[in-house]
Amino acid sequence: MSDQKENGNQADFVVVANRLPVDLERTAEGERRWTASPGGLVSALEPFLRSRKGAWVGWPGVPDVDVEEFDDDGLVLHPVSLSADEVRDYYEGFSNATLWPLYHDVVERPVFDRAWWNSYVKVNRRFAQASAEVAAPGATVWIQDYQLQLVPAMLRELRPDLRIGFFLHIPFPPVELFMQMPWRAAIIRGLTGADLVGFHRPGGAQNFLWLCRQLIGLESTRGAVGVRSRPGTMQVGDRTVRVGAFPISIDAAGLDSLARTKGVQERAAQLRRDLGNPKTVLLGVDRLDYTKGIDLRLQALHELLHEGRLQPDDVTFVQLATPSRERVEHYQRMRGEIEQMVGRINGEFSRVGHPVVHYLHQSVDRTELAGFFSAADVMVVTPLRDGMNLVCKEYVAARHDLGGALVLSEFAGAAAELSSAFLVNPHDLDGVKDALVAAITLDPAEGRRRMRAMRRQVLTHDVDRWARSFLQALGAEGVD
Ligand code: ADP
Ligand code: G6P
Repeated sequence: MSDQKENGNQADFVVVANRLPVDLERTAEGERRWTASPGGLVSALEPFLRSRKGAWVGWPGVPDVDVEEFDDDGLVLHPVSLSADEVRDYYEGFSNATLWPLYHDVVERPVFDRAWWNSYVKVNRRFAQASAEVAAPGATVWIQDYQLQLVPAMLRELRPDLRIGFFLHIPFPPVELFMQMPWRAAIIRGLTGADLVGFHRPGGAQNFLWLCRQLIGLESTRGAVGVRSRPGTMQVGDRTVRVGAFPISIDAAGLDSLARTKGVQERAAQLRRDLGNPKTVLLGVDRLDYTKGIDLRLQALHELLHEGRLQPDDVTFVQLATPSRERVEHYQRMRGEIEQMVGRINGEFSRVGHPVVHYLHQSVDRTELAGFFSAADVMVVTPLRDGMNLVCKEYVAARHDLGGALVLSEFAGAAAELSSAFLVNPHDLDGVKDALVAAITLDPAEGRRRMRAMRRQVLTHDVDRWARSFLQALGAEGVD
C-alpha cells in the first residue's frame, strides 16, 4: 500500500468495473484525450456515482498504458492497466467470446480456451489487489459485471473487513447452459465471496442459488426471490450471503429535463427535416452487438417494404450503432451481415437523396441522442436476449410529450416493467412485422395511454432507486 493511501486517500465507497467511466483515446496526432465509455453499465452507474462521490477502479480502455489515479470532478478514478495480450485473452477472449455468448442464451457459440481462462484469473486478481489498496477500513466495495466474477472471493481474502457487493449487468443463464462452463465451480465460488449478489431478474438469482447448492454444496434458501425484496440466503462458512433481484434503470429525471430543452426540441425538428419529413421515423439505438437483433428488425423492414405493407416514401429507419468489440470474430461477422442488409434495402427501395435506412456506425452525445428519441415515432428494440436494455427506458423518459411508440422484445429484462410496449418475440418475424405496423398506425390517444403508463414506471423506478435498494440490502453505510 502506498504512503499516500495510508495518509487518507482511501475511499469509503468503491465501484469496481472492467471499464472506467471514461476511455482513453489516442488521436491521430498522437495526443491523449478522455471520452465517455460505451454501454449501459457506465450510463447507469456514472450519474449515481457522481452524486455520491467515491472511487472507481477500472481499465482505461486501451492496452499497455500506465495512468496515475486522478480526480474527475469529485470522482477519483483508479486505472488498472492491461497488456495487449490480456486485452486479447481476458477481455476479447474469455469475457466477450466465452462468457458473453454463454450468458446470452448461446446466441453465438461460446469458445472455451484454457489460456483465456488463465488470463481471466490473473486479471481478476489484479483488480482485487487494486480494490484492496483503494478501499478504506470497513469500506463498501461494489463489484460490477461478468468480467470480474472472481474478484469478490479474491478481495474477501485480501480484505475480510470490507462489505462487498456484486451486481451482474447481463442475464444469468439457465443452469443447463451454465453447466457447459469448464470452470463453473470456480466462478460460483468467486461470486460467493460477496455479501450480496444481485441480478436483474428473480430467475437469475434462482439459477445462481441452485448452482451454489449443486456445484459447491452450499445450503441455501429454496423459496422464490422477489424483486427488491425477499432475497435468498446461503451460508458460506460463518458468513450469510444474500442473493437478490434488482432491475437496473436510468437517470430518468435527467433525461426528461434534457429532452424538454429548447435545444433538443429544435434538434429533433431539424433531424426530421434532414430526413425529408417522412410520415414515420423508426429508430434503433444499440451497441453493434449480435444479441441486439439489429438484423431481425432490418429483415422485418425489408419484408414489409417488399410486400407493400410499408411505402418507402413514408418511412425512414435510423439505426445508430456504437462500434463495439471490433476484434472479436462474432462481431466482425455480424457487422458485415448488417451492413449488407442496409445496402440491400437501400439498393432496392431508396430514391436519390432519400435513403430508406440511415445507418450510423457511430456514438452520439446525450443531447443528440435525446434529439433522436424526440424525433422518432417508433423505437425498435428487438434483442434476442438482454439483461435489462436501457435504451427503451431512455426513449420513454425522453417522451414527455407522450408521443411515440415502443416495440420491445420479450427477451429484454425491461419487458417485465414496460408491459404497455408492443411486446414481440424476436424469433417470430411475422409477429415483429405486425407489431411494427401496429406501432406505426397507432391511434394517438391509445399511444398516449401506453406512453403515460410506461413513463410512470420509468420515472418512479430510476437508477437512484436501484442503487439505493441494492446498497440498503447490502447494509452499506450512509444509504437511507
Ligand atoms: P448495453 O449495455 O448492452 O450496451 P443498454 O441498452 O443497456 O445496452 O445500454 C446502452 C447504452 O449505450 C444506453 O445508455 C444508450 O443510450 C447508449 N448508446 C447505445 N448506442 C449509442 C449510440 N450510437 N450513441 C450514443 N449512445 C448510445
Ligand atoms: C454491457 C456490459 C458492460 C460493458 C458494456 C460495453 O453494458 O454489461 O459491462 O462495459 O456492455 O461493452 P465493452 O466491452 O465495450 O465494455
